[in-house]
Amino acid sequence: MTPNPLYLFAALTVLATGALAQQTSTPPPPAQDIDTLLSRFSDDPDHFTQTDGADLYRATCQACHMEDGRGAMGAGAHPPLAGNPKMRSKHFLAGVILTGYHAMPRFGHMMSDDQVAAVTNYVRSHFGNDFPDVITAAEVADLRPPEDE
Ligand code: HEC
Repeated sequence: MTPNPLYLFAALTVLATGALAQQTSTPPPPAQDIDTLLSRFSDDPDHFTQTDGADLYRATCQACHMEDGRGAMGAGAHPPLAGNPKMRSKHFLAGVILTGYHAMPRFGHMMSDDQVAAVTNYVRSHFGNDFPDVITAAEVADLRPPEDE
């Protein structure tokens, strides 16, 4: 039985469209960017291993709040951490990181008190924020909800 030329044509069209879609998809990032990307991931999948505030920000917050802390407006709003009067309260910021906030996931179970303090102090002293008071790991421990302890 000879195949119906119409089916053959349809199959060829599907193949051609697939190849075209592959050609126009985003090219992989250049090699030197892969190290940068990997550095944003933790070595331990359940806990963040970074201890520095800047590294923690890059690994945990930047994806949603952006490199410059200005947030993003899209399908879901990611509020800015720059020029945001709520950053005045170190307890508010550390509390949001520990317990999450509405649509934002919590990080308390993945970060130590020291790590939460480091990223809180980093956010409050970068992106144009200049709050002189810092939060200590002991203060973070007091803010932790009981299930994290
Ligand atoms: C998966 C995305 C995501 C990540 C990662 C994330 N956030 Fe958020 N964050 C949000 C969203 C969404 C909101 C807004 C929640 C709402 O109001 O519904 C938010 C809100 C906040 C707020 C409250 C701002 C305000 O004006 O009400 C603070 C503070 C904050 N995030 C800090 C952080 C910090 C610090 C980190 C890193 C430790 C972080 N976020 C990581 C998505 C994220």
